[in-house]
Amino acid sequence: MKPPASTTILGIETSCDETAAAVLDGEGHVLANVISSQQTVHERFGGVVPELASRAHIQNVDHVTRQALDAAGLTWQDLGAIAVTQGPGLAGALLVGISYAKSLAYALGIPLVGVSHLEGHIASAWIDRPSFPRTCVVLIASGGHTHLFHATEHGGFHLMGRTIDDAAGEAFDKGAQMLGLGYPGGPLIDAAARKGSPAAVRFPRSRVRTGQLDFSFSGLKTALLYHLQRMDQEAIVRQQADLAAGYQEAIVDVLVRQTFAAVRQAGVSALAVVGGVSANSRLRARLTERAAGEGIELGLPALSYCTDNAAMIAAAGQRALEQGRLASFECEAMPNYALPASSGGETMRRRS
Ligand code: KG4
Ligand code: ZN
Repeated sequence: MKPPASTTILGIETSCDETAAAVLDGEGHVLANVISSQQTVHERFGGVVPELASRAHIQNVDHVTRQALDAAGLTWQDLGAIAVTQGPGLAGALLVGISYAKSLAYALGIPLVGVSHLEGHIASAWIDRPSFPRTCVVLIASGGHTHLFHATEHGGFHLMGRTIDDAAGEAFDKGAQMLGLGYPGGPLIDAAARKGSPAAVRFPRSRVRTGQLDFSFSGLKTALLYHLQRMDQEAIVRQQADLAAGYQEAIVDVLVRQTFAAVRQAGVSALAVVGGVSANSRLRARLTERAAGEGIELGLPALSYCTDNAAMIAAAGQRALEQGRLASFECEAMPNYALPASSGGETMRRRS
């Protein structure tokens, strides 16, 4: 089955705690982008419970997909291909989306493409800006990843640096928990920090000796813990905004420092920053200011494409289709999948 080079594509994303479906037209315009969050299912546990995530995906995936199709004003017969997240993610959660996508593709007789969730995040930078340079540095900062890639014109992604412990999103989530802000932590720290001063409390900025472009956030988390242990509960509540602002600033400082060092090292003039943490208002402001100062073209996805969504999966699916990367009906969930070997997946595996 040979797909047309550009076609209306349905994207399905169920790798973690969002059930999402989106439709893009043949030119890559987003016709619909529906996200059903499981936040209320998981918040009382302070994190994602895999079994509950799978169950919620089963309950939601068909409904969310039909909603996306309706919002796009299309019928099943208008679809030319289906893209689904194959990994990385929770095995059971991934399996729900994959099984559903397979059955749809089979019933409709259209091609199926399996894409990496990371490819999806990367593709999000181009959704609203198709002319953004393909040769650039990409920072993916999410709940599970903090990785710097040198992206090349022909679709290669060469790993330049990555976190050696916690991901940036994880640092936000754990910090928020310690500060009594709740789950998920990123948006809550972001909001609290707006009412505080980033200079009121200074937390350490980590440096990794081995890999100059690597990140480390576990020391920062410990520094916050020790700092809070020296305070009484009342003071923590009173200073919550300043603590959130200081903690956020330490994460943002390290992200900005390492990312611009990678831009210099790669010798590129464009930078894309993607993943849930790229929704952070302070990070966006700091990146924008620095990029303008250094004459670097900055690609930041719209907020709705930063955190997990299916528009990015459909967008990555369109590129995978162009490369002829079709999935068979035997394709499986790949919980540890990084990037396809053809785009530098080997590099990623060697180093992680
Ligand atoms: O990309 P994403 O939705 O899921 C993963 O692939 O992990 O990223 C989720 C992460 C969470 O850790 C969440 O706290 C963080 O992104 N996040 C933020 C913000 N919005 C989401 N972190 C900082 N500031 C935000 N505004
Ligand atoms: Zn994600």
